Amino acid sequence: MYIAKVLEEHKEGKEVEIKGWVHRIRKMKDKVFAVVRDTDDIIQVVFSNNASSFNDAEKLKMESALIVKGKLIKSEKAPNGYEIQATKLDVVDIGEDFPIQKDFSTEFLADNRHLWLRSRKMNAILKIRSTVTGAIHEYFRGQGFNEFQSPIFQSTQCEGGSELFEVKYFDKKMYLTQTWQLPAEAGIFSMEKIYTVSPTFRAEKSITSRHLTEFWMIEAEMAWMKFEDMLEVGEGLIKACVKAVLDKNRKELEVLGRDPKKLEPTVKKKFPQITYTEALKILKDKCKMDIEWGKDLRTVEEEKLMSLYDVPVIVTHYPKKVKAFYMKEDDKNKDVVLGSDFLAPEGIGEIVGGSERESNIDSIKKRLKEMGEDPKNYGFYLDTRKYGSVPHSGFGMGLERVVRWICGLENIKDAIAFPRTPNRFYP
Ligand code: 4AD
Ligand code: MG
Repeated sequence: MYIAKVLEEHKEGKEVEIKGWVHRIRKMKDKVFAVVRDTDDIIQVVFSNNASSFNDAEKLKMESALIVKGKLIKSEKAPNGYEIQATKLDVVDIGEDFPIQKDFSTEFLADNRHLWLRSRKMNAILKIRSTVTGAIHEYFRGQGFNEFQSPIFQSTQCEGGSELFEVKYFDKKMYLTQTWQLPAEAGIFSMEKIYTVSPTFRAEKSITSRHLTEFWMIEAEMAWMKFEDMLEVGEGLIKACVKAVLDKNRKELEVLGRDPKKLEPTVKKKFPQITYTEALKILKDKCKMDIEWGKDLRTVEEEKLMSLYDVPVIVTHYPKKVKAFYMKEDDKNKDVVLGSDFLAPEGIGEIVGGSERESNIDSIKKRLKEMGEDPKNYGFYLDTRKYGSVPHSGFGMGLERVVRWICGLENIKDAIAFPRTPNRFYP
Protein backbone atom coordinates (compact mmCIF):
# COMPACT_ATOMS: atom_id res chain seq x y z
CA MET A 1 0.00 0.00 0.00
CA TYR A 2 1.25 3.52 -0.76
CA ILE A 3 2.42 5.45 2.28
CA ALA A 4 0.05 8.34 1.56
CA LYS A 5 -2.87 5.88 1.63
CA VAL A 6 -1.65 4.41 4.91
CA LEU A 7 -1.51 7.88 6.44
CA GLU A 8 -4.86 8.87 5.00
CA GLU A 9 -6.99 5.83 5.62
CA HIS A 10 -5.52 3.79 8.38
CA LYS A 11 -6.36 3.97 12.01
CA GLU A 12 -4.00 3.50 14.89
CA GLY A 13 -3.32 -0.13 15.70
CA LYS A 14 -4.09 -1.36 12.17
CA GLU A 15 -1.77 -3.80 10.44
CA VAL A 16 -0.26 -2.24 7.29
CA GLU A 17 2.24 -3.19 4.60
CA ILE A 18 4.36 -0.73 2.64
CA LYS A 19 6.98 -0.97 -0.11
CA GLY A 20 9.74 1.55 -0.55
CA TRP A 21 13.33 2.65 -0.02
CA VAL A 22 15.26 3.68 3.07
CA HIS A 23 15.39 7.46 3.04
CA ARG A 24 17.16 7.96 6.37
CA ILE A 25 18.35 5.48 8.95
CA ARG A 26 19.36 5.68 12.59
CA LYS A 27 20.66 2.64 14.42
CA MET A 28 20.55 2.30 18.23
CA LYS A 29 21.41 -0.60 20.47
CA ASP A 30 17.89 -1.90 20.83
CA LYS A 31 16.08 -0.13 17.96
CA VAL A 32 16.50 0.76 14.32
CA PHE A 33 14.61 3.77 13.00
CA ALA A 34 14.23 3.84 9.24
CA VAL A 35 12.38 6.58 7.42
CA VAL A 36 10.99 4.88 4.35
CA ARG A 37 9.96 6.76 1.21
CA ASP A 38 7.79 5.86 -1.75
CA THR A 39 6.39 7.89 -4.61
CA ASP A 40 4.18 10.06 -2.42
CA ASP A 41 5.45 10.32 1.09
CA ILE A 42 7.67 9.19 3.94
CA ILE A 43 6.95 7.26 7.13
CA GLN A 44 9.08 6.14 10.03
CA VAL A 45 9.45 2.41 10.64
CA VAL A 46 10.71 1.15 13.96
CA PHE A 47 12.40 -2.25 14.34
CA SER A 48 12.77 -3.39 17.96
CA ASN A 49 15.30 -5.97 19.10
CA ASN A 50 12.52 -8.26 20.30
CA ALA A 51 11.23 -8.67 16.72
CA SER A 52 12.56 -11.27 14.28
CA SER A 53 13.30 -8.58 11.71
CA PHE A 54 15.81 -6.76 13.91
CA ASN A 55 18.94 -8.51 12.59
CA ASP A 56 18.04 -7.72 8.99
CA ALA A 57 17.07 -4.16 9.90
CA GLU A 58 20.48 -3.56 11.44
CA LYS A 59 22.06 -4.21 8.04
CA LEU A 60 19.83 -1.78 6.13
CA LYS A 61 21.48 1.08 4.24
CA MET A 62 20.28 4.27 2.68
CA GLU A 63 18.24 3.35 -0.39
CA SER A 64 17.87 -0.33 0.48
CA ALA A 65 14.62 -1.53 -1.08
CA LEU A 66 12.21 -3.20 1.30
CA ILE A 67 8.70 -4.40 2.07
CA VAL A 68 7.60 -3.93 5.67
CA LYS A 69 4.60 -5.15 7.62
CA GLY A 70 3.67 -3.73 10.98
CA LYS A 71 1.31 -1.88 13.25
CA LEU A 72 0.52 1.78 12.65
CA ILE A 73 0.78 3.91 15.78
CA LYS A 74 0.66 7.63 16.51
CA SER A 75 4.05 9.17 17.19
CA GLU A 76 4.47 12.87 17.74
CA LYS A 77 8.16 12.85 16.94
CA ALA A 78 7.89 10.97 13.64
CA PRO A 79 7.44 12.82 10.35
CA ASN A 80 3.70 12.98 9.53
CA GLY A 81 2.87 11.99 13.12
CA TYR A 82 2.77 8.21 12.64
CA GLU A 83 5.18 5.32 12.71
CA ILE A 84 5.01 1.65 11.83
CA GLN A 85 6.17 -0.83 14.45
CA ALA A 86 7.60 -3.50 12.19
CA THR A 87 6.64 -7.14 12.60
CA LYS A 88 8.01 -8.40 9.27
CA LEU A 89 10.80 -7.15 7.02
CA ASP A 90 11.48 -8.34 3.51
CA VAL A 91 14.72 -6.85 2.17
CA VAL A 92 14.25 -6.77 -1.59
CA ASP A 93 17.73 -5.34 -2.26
CA ILE A 94 20.15 -4.30 0.44
CA GLY A 95 22.19 -2.36 -2.16
CA GLU A 96 25.66 -0.87 -2.06
CA ASP A 97 26.64 2.23 -0.10
CA PHE A 98 24.63 5.09 -1.62
CA PRO A 99 27.00 7.71 -3.09
CA ILE A 100 24.94 10.73 -2.02
CA GLN A 101 25.65 10.83 1.71
CA LYS A 102 27.60 13.91 2.67
CA ASP A 103 28.52 15.72 -0.53
CA PHE A 104 25.60 17.86 -1.60
CA SER A 105 27.50 20.29 -3.81
CA THR A 106 25.67 21.33 -6.96
CA GLU A 107 28.20 19.69 -9.27
CA PHE A 108 28.23 16.40 -7.35
CA LEU A 109 24.45 16.23 -7.38
CA ALA A 110 24.42 17.07 -11.11
CA ASP A 111 26.92 14.27 -11.84
CA ASN A 112 24.71 11.93 -9.83
CA ARG A 113 21.46 13.26 -11.19
CA HIS A 114 20.17 9.74 -11.87
CA LEU A 115 20.36 9.08 -8.12
CA TRP A 116 19.39 12.57 -6.99
CA LEU A 117 16.04 12.11 -8.75
CA ARG A 118 15.09 10.10 -5.65
CA SER A 119 15.34 13.16 -3.40
CA ARG A 120 12.17 14.64 -1.94
CA LYS A 121 12.99 17.85 -3.78
CA MET A 122 13.28 16.30 -7.24
CA ASN A 123 10.30 14.07 -6.56
CA ALA A 124 8.20 17.17 -5.76
CA ILE A 125 9.40 19.08 -8.83
CA LEU A 126 8.84 16.19 -11.21
CA LYS A 127 5.34 15.64 -9.86
CA ILE A 128 4.50 19.30 -10.33
CA ARG A 129 5.92 19.10 -13.85
CA SER A 130 3.63 16.15 -14.54
CA THR A 131 0.64 18.07 -13.18
CA VAL A 132 1.52 20.95 -15.50
CA THR A 133 1.74 18.80 -18.65
CA GLY A 134 -1.49 17.05 -17.65
CA ALA A 135 -3.21 20.43 -17.25
CA ILE A 136 -1.92 21.54 -20.65
CA HIS A 137 -3.45 18.56 -22.44
CA GLU A 138 -6.73 19.01 -20.54
CA TYR A 139 -6.85 22.73 -21.28
CA PHE A 140 -6.32 22.42 -25.01
CA ARG A 141 -8.51 19.38 -25.49
CA GLY A 142 -11.23 21.03 -23.42
CA GLN A 143 -11.23 23.85 -25.96
CA GLY A 144 -11.46 21.62 -28.99
CA PHE A 145 -7.78 21.62 -29.97
CA ASN A 146 -6.22 18.60 -31.65
CA GLU A 147 -2.70 17.48 -30.83
CA PHE A 148 -0.38 17.72 -33.83
CA GLN A 149 3.24 16.63 -34.16
CA SER A 150 5.88 18.06 -36.45
CA PRO A 151 9.28 16.49 -37.23
CA ILE A 152 12.28 16.95 -34.94
CA PHE A 153 14.57 16.85 -38.00
CA GLN A 154 13.92 20.06 -39.88
CA SER A 155 15.42 21.53 -43.02
CA THR A 156 15.15 25.23 -42.12
CA GLN A 157 15.48 27.58 -39.21
CA CYS A 158 12.67 29.68 -37.77
CA GLU A 159 13.91 31.54 -34.73
CA GLY A 160 17.38 32.60 -35.87
CA GLY A 161 20.19 30.65 -37.51
CA SER A 162 22.77 31.14 -34.79
CA GLU A 163 20.98 28.84 -32.38
CA LEU A 164 20.56 25.86 -34.67
CA PHE A 165 21.93 22.42 -33.89
CA GLU A 166 23.17 20.92 -37.13
CA VAL A 167 22.90 17.19 -37.61
CA LYS A 168 24.36 15.00 -40.30
CA TYR A 169 21.42 13.47 -42.16
CA PHE A 170 23.08 10.87 -44.39
CA ASP A 171 24.99 13.07 -46.84
CA LYS A 172 22.87 16.13 -46.10
CA LYS A 173 22.68 18.70 -43.35
CA MET A 174 19.57 19.08 -41.24
CA TYR A 175 18.69 20.78 -37.96
CA LEU A 176 17.09 19.75 -34.70
CA THR A 177 13.79 21.57 -34.37
CA GLN A 178 13.84 25.07 -32.85
CA THR A 179 10.08 25.25 -32.98
CA TRP A 180 7.09 23.30 -34.20
CA GLN A 181 5.59 26.41 -35.67
CA LEU A 182 6.28 26.33 -39.42
CA PRO A 183 4.87 22.83 -40.05
CA ALA A 184 2.04 23.70 -37.65
CA GLU A 185 1.08 26.68 -39.79
CA ALA A 186 0.48 24.17 -42.57
CA GLY A 187 -1.42 21.90 -40.15
CA ILE A 188 -4.06 24.47 -39.20
CA PHE A 189 -5.47 24.44 -42.75
CA SER A 190 -6.54 20.89 -41.98
CA MET A 191 -7.23 20.93 -38.25
CA GLU A 192 -7.71 24.65 -37.42
CA LYS A 193 -6.78 24.57 -33.72
CA ILE A 194 -3.72 22.50 -32.84
CA TYR A 195 -1.14 22.19 -30.07
CA THR A 196 1.90 20.20 -29.11
CA VAL A 197 4.08 19.35 -26.13
CA SER A 198 7.48 18.65 -27.61
CA PRO A 199 11.24 18.64 -27.09
CA THR A 200 12.90 21.69 -28.66
CA PHE A 201 16.57 22.40 -29.28
CA ARG A 202 18.57 25.61 -29.23
CA ALA A 203 22.34 25.85 -29.48
CA GLU A 204 22.26 28.49 -26.81
CA LYS A 205 25.85 29.03 -25.73
CA SER A 206 25.14 31.36 -22.85
CA ILE A 207 24.99 29.72 -19.45
CA THR A 208 22.15 31.35 -17.57
CA SER A 209 19.55 30.30 -15.06
CA ARG A 210 16.86 30.41 -17.79
CA HIS A 211 18.35 28.66 -20.82
CA LEU A 212 18.63 25.00 -21.71
CA THR A 213 19.86 23.56 -25.00
CA GLU A 214 17.07 20.97 -24.91
CA PHE A 215 13.77 22.07 -23.44
CA TRP A 216 10.11 21.27 -23.86
CA MET A 217 7.92 23.75 -25.61
CA ILE A 218 4.15 23.88 -25.59
CA GLU A 219 2.99 25.44 -28.81
CA ALA A 220 -0.43 26.34 -30.17
CA GLU A 221 -1.45 27.49 -33.62
CA MET A 222 -4.98 28.65 -34.38
CA ALA A 223 -6.72 29.43 -37.66
CA TRP A 224 -9.00 32.51 -37.72
CA MET A 225 -7.63 33.79 -34.43
CA LYS A 226 -6.40 37.36 -34.20
CA PHE A 227 -3.69 38.70 -31.94
CA GLU A 228 -5.99 39.45 -28.98
CA ASP A 229 -7.64 36.01 -29.20
CA MET A 230 -4.22 34.39 -28.99
CA LEU A 231 -3.32 36.41 -25.89
CA GLU A 232 -6.48 35.16 -24.23
CA VAL A 233 -5.69 31.51 -24.98
CA GLY A 234 -2.13 31.98 -23.66
CA GLU A 235 -3.32 33.62 -20.45
CA GLY A 236 -5.90 30.88 -19.94
CA LEU A 237 -3.22 28.23 -20.37
CA ILE A 238 -0.95 29.73 -17.72
CA LYS A 239 -3.86 30.11 -15.32
CA ALA A 240 -4.87 26.48 -15.92
CA CYS A 241 -1.33 25.24 -15.18
CA VAL A 242 -0.99 27.23 -11.97
CA LYS A 243 -4.49 26.34 -10.81
CA ALA A 244 -3.87 22.62 -11.36
CA VAL A 245 -0.73 22.76 -9.20
CA LEU A 246 -2.52 24.70 -6.46
CA ASP A 247 -5.32 22.13 -6.54
CA LYS A 248 -3.18 18.99 -6.67
CA ASN A 249 0.30 19.68 -5.32
CA ARG A 250 0.01 21.45 -1.96
CA LYS A 251 2.24 18.81 -0.40
CA GLU A 252 4.91 19.15 -3.08
CA LEU A 253 4.92 22.95 -2.79
CA GLU A 254 5.47 22.52 0.92
CA VAL A 255 8.39 20.14 0.35
CA LEU A 256 9.90 22.84 -1.88
CA GLY A 257 9.24 25.58 0.65
CA ARG A 258 7.23 27.41 -2.00
CA ASP A 259 4.55 29.74 -0.68
CA PRO A 260 1.31 29.04 -2.63
CA LYS A 261 0.21 32.62 -1.94
CA LYS A 262 2.78 33.81 -4.46
CA LEU A 263 0.91 31.89 -7.16
CA GLU A 264 -2.66 32.66 -6.19
CA PRO A 265 -2.86 36.12 -7.84
CA THR A 266 -2.02 34.52 -11.20
CA VAL A 267 -5.20 32.45 -11.04
CA LYS A 268 -7.38 35.30 -9.81
CA LYS A 269 -6.21 38.46 -11.56
CA LYS A 270 -6.30 39.47 -15.21
CA PHE A 271 -2.75 39.77 -16.60
CA PRO A 272 -1.84 43.40 -17.33
CA GLN A 273 -1.17 44.12 -21.01
CA ILE A 274 1.32 46.85 -21.88
CA THR A 275 2.97 47.74 -25.15
CA TYR A 276 6.74 47.62 -25.55
CA THR A 277 6.72 51.43 -25.76
CA GLU A 278 4.76 51.67 -22.50
CA ALA A 279 7.19 49.22 -20.92
CA LEU A 280 10.09 51.53 -21.80
CA LYS A 281 8.22 54.42 -20.21
CA ILE A 282 7.57 52.46 -17.01
CA LEU A 283 11.23 51.43 -16.88
CA LYS A 284 12.26 55.06 -17.25
CA ASP A 285 9.78 56.52 -14.77
CA LYS A 286 9.78 53.85 -12.08
CA CYS A 287 13.10 52.04 -12.44
CA LYS A 288 15.35 54.78 -13.76
CA MET A 289 16.37 52.72 -16.77
CA ASP A 290 16.63 54.59 -20.03
CA ILE A 291 16.39 52.21 -22.99
CA GLU A 292 16.64 53.32 -26.57
CA TRP A 293 13.45 52.55 -28.53
CA GLY A 294 14.09 49.60 -30.83
CA LYS A 295 16.38 47.61 -28.52
CA ASP A 296 15.08 44.28 -27.27
CA LEU A 297 14.43 44.01 -23.54
CA ARG A 298 17.33 42.30 -21.81
CA THR A 299 17.14 40.07 -18.75
CA VAL A 300 17.95 42.94 -16.36
CA GLU A 301 15.23 45.10 -17.83
CA GLU A 302 12.65 42.31 -17.75
CA GLU A 303 13.53 41.64 -14.13
CA LYS A 304 13.26 45.29 -13.10
CA LEU A 305 9.95 45.69 -14.89
CA MET A 306 8.56 42.52 -13.35
CA SER A 307 9.58 43.53 -9.84
CA LEU A 308 6.53 45.84 -10.08
CA TYR A 309 4.04 42.98 -10.61
CA ASP A 310 2.87 39.81 -8.86
CA VAL A 311 1.31 38.17 -11.94
CA PRO A 312 2.61 37.62 -15.49
CA VAL A 313 2.57 40.70 -17.71
CA ILE A 314 1.90 40.61 -21.44
CA VAL A 315 4.20 42.95 -23.35
CA THR A 316 2.94 43.62 -26.88
CA HIS A 317 3.86 45.50 -30.07
CA TYR A 318 7.61 44.99 -30.06
CA PRO A 319 9.77 46.68 -32.69
CA LYS A 320 9.72 44.65 -35.90
CA LYS A 321 13.48 44.40 -36.11
CA VAL A 322 13.89 42.51 -32.82
CA LYS A 323 11.24 39.91 -33.58
CA ALA A 324 10.93 36.90 -35.89
CA PHE A 325 10.18 37.15 -39.63
CA TYR A 326 6.73 35.58 -39.39
CA MET A 327 5.17 38.13 -37.03
CA LYS A 328 2.45 40.34 -38.51
CA GLU A 329 3.18 44.01 -39.01
CA ASP A 330 0.77 46.25 -37.16
CA ASP A 331 -1.42 48.01 -39.73
CA LYS A 332 -1.42 51.13 -37.58
CA ASN A 333 2.35 51.31 -37.14
CA LYS A 334 4.63 49.45 -39.55
CA ASP A 335 7.57 49.65 -37.14
CA VAL A 336 5.99 47.25 -34.67
CA VAL A 337 4.59 43.73 -34.89
CA LEU A 338 1.57 42.03 -33.37
CA GLY A 339 3.94 40.00 -31.26
CA SER A 340 4.06 39.54 -27.51
CA ASP A 341 6.11 38.12 -24.69
CA PHE A 342 4.52 36.98 -21.45
CA LEU A 343 6.89 37.86 -18.63
CA ALA A 344 6.64 36.04 -15.32
CA PRO A 345 7.42 37.69 -11.97
CA GLU A 346 10.13 36.76 -9.45
CA GLY A 347 13.02 37.04 -11.89
CA ILE A 348 11.76 34.39 -14.30
CA GLY A 349 11.28 36.62 -17.36
CA GLU A 350 9.81 35.46 -20.66
CA ILE A 351 7.69 32.32 -20.41
CA VAL A 352 5.62 32.70 -23.58
CA GLY A 353 6.33 34.18 -26.99
CA GLY A 354 3.51 34.53 -29.49
CA SER A 355 2.13 36.54 -32.39
CA GLU A 356 -0.41 36.95 -35.09
CA ARG A 357 1.21 35.62 -38.27
CA GLU A 358 2.11 37.76 -41.26
CA SER A 359 -0.26 37.06 -44.13
CA ASN A 360 1.47 39.17 -46.79
CA ILE A 361 3.66 36.76 -48.72
CA ASP A 362 5.91 39.49 -50.16
CA SER A 363 6.58 40.86 -46.73
CA ILE A 364 7.54 37.36 -45.50
CA LYS A 365 9.91 36.88 -48.46
CA LYS A 366 11.48 40.28 -47.86
CA ARG A 367 12.09 39.59 -44.20
CA LEU A 368 13.52 36.15 -44.94
CA LYS A 369 15.98 37.73 -47.38
CA GLU A 370 16.93 40.36 -44.81
CA MET A 371 17.91 37.47 -42.52
CA GLY A 372 20.08 35.98 -45.23
CA GLU A 373 17.64 33.15 -45.98
CA ASP A 374 16.65 31.97 -49.44
CA PRO A 375 12.82 32.00 -49.68
CA LYS A 376 13.08 29.00 -52.03
CA ASN A 377 13.94 26.84 -49.03
CA TYR A 378 10.67 27.92 -47.44
CA GLY A 379 8.45 26.84 -50.32
CA PHE A 380 6.16 24.71 -48.18
CA TYR A 381 5.76 27.57 -45.74
CA LEU A 382 4.99 30.14 -48.41
CA ASP A 383 2.32 27.78 -49.78
CA THR A 384 0.39 28.29 -46.53
CA ARG A 385 -0.22 31.86 -47.74
CA LYS A 386 -1.31 30.87 -51.25
CA TYR A 387 -4.33 28.59 -51.03
CA GLY A 388 -7.08 29.97 -48.83
CA SER A 389 -4.88 31.94 -46.46
CA VAL A 390 -6.67 33.05 -43.29
CA PRO A 391 -5.67 35.17 -40.29
CA HIS A 392 -4.00 32.98 -37.72
CA SER A 393 -1.98 33.25 -34.56
CA GLY A 394 0.03 31.10 -32.20
CA PHE A 395 2.42 30.99 -29.31
CA GLY A 396 5.04 28.90 -27.57
CA MET A 397 5.48 28.40 -23.83
CA GLY A 398 8.68 27.10 -22.26
CA LEU A 399 7.73 24.25 -19.93
CA GLU A 400 10.86 24.43 -17.78
CA ARG A 401 10.53 28.17 -17.31
CA VAL A 402 6.95 27.73 -16.10
CA VAL A 403 7.90 24.83 -13.82
CA ARG A 404 10.86 26.83 -12.46
CA TRP A 405 8.55 29.71 -11.62
CA ILE A 406 5.78 27.59 -10.10
CA CYS A 407 8.29 25.68 -7.96
CA GLY A 408 10.31 28.77 -7.05
CA LEU A 409 13.60 27.26 -8.29
CA GLU A 410 16.85 29.15 -8.54
CA ASN A 411 17.87 27.51 -11.77
CA ILE A 412 15.99 26.14 -14.76
CA LYS A 413 18.12 22.98 -14.65
CA ASP A 414 16.10 21.66 -11.74
CA ALA A 415 12.87 21.91 -13.72
CA ILE A 416 13.77 18.88 -15.86
CA ALA A 417 14.97 15.41 -14.90
CA PHE A 418 18.13 15.34 -17.01
CA PRO A 419 19.12 18.90 -17.99
CA ARG A 420 21.09 19.71 -21.12
CA THR A 421 23.26 22.83 -21.26
CA PRO A 422 26.49 23.53 -23.15
CA ASN A 423 28.50 21.86 -20.39
CA ARG A 424 25.99 19.50 -18.82
CA PHE A 425 25.09 16.52 -20.99
CA TYR A 426 25.66 13.60 -18.62
CA PRO A 427 23.88 11.68 -17.23
O1 4AD B 1 9.98 33.00 -27.96
P1 4AD B 1 10.34 31.72 -28.65
O2 4AD B 1 11.63 31.65 -29.34
O3 4AD B 1 9.13 31.47 -29.67
C1 4AD B 1 9.06 30.50 -30.60
O4 4AD B 1 9.86 29.60 -30.75
C2 4AD B 1 7.80 30.57 -31.42
N1 4AD B 1 8.03 29.86 -32.69
C3 4AD B 1 6.67 29.98 -30.65
C4 4AD B 1 5.37 30.02 -31.40
O5 4AD B 1 4.86 31.10 -31.64
N2 4AD B 1 4.84 28.88 -31.77
O6 4AD B 1 10.23 30.53 -27.62
C5 4AD B 1 9.05 30.29 -26.93
C6 4AD B 1 9.32 30.03 -25.45
C7 4AD B 1 9.98 31.20 -24.74
O7 4AD B 1 9.04 32.16 -24.35
C8 4AD B 1 10.63 30.51 -23.56
O8 4AD B 1 9.67 30.31 -22.54
C9 4AD B 1 11.01 29.15 -24.13
O9 4AD B 1 10.24 28.95 -25.30
N3 4AD B 1 12.44 29.10 -24.48
C10 4AD B 1 13.37 28.45 -23.75
N4 4AD B 1 13.28 27.74 -22.61
C11 4AD B 1 14.42 27.19 -22.12
N5 4AD B 1 15.62 27.28 -22.72
C12 4AD B 1 15.76 27.99 -23.87
N6 4AD B 1 16.95 28.06 -24.46
C13 4AD B 1 14.60 28.61 -24.44
N7 4AD B 1 14.36 29.33 -25.54
C14 4AD B 1 13.05 29.62 -25.55
MG1 MG C 1 10.82 34.81 -27.49
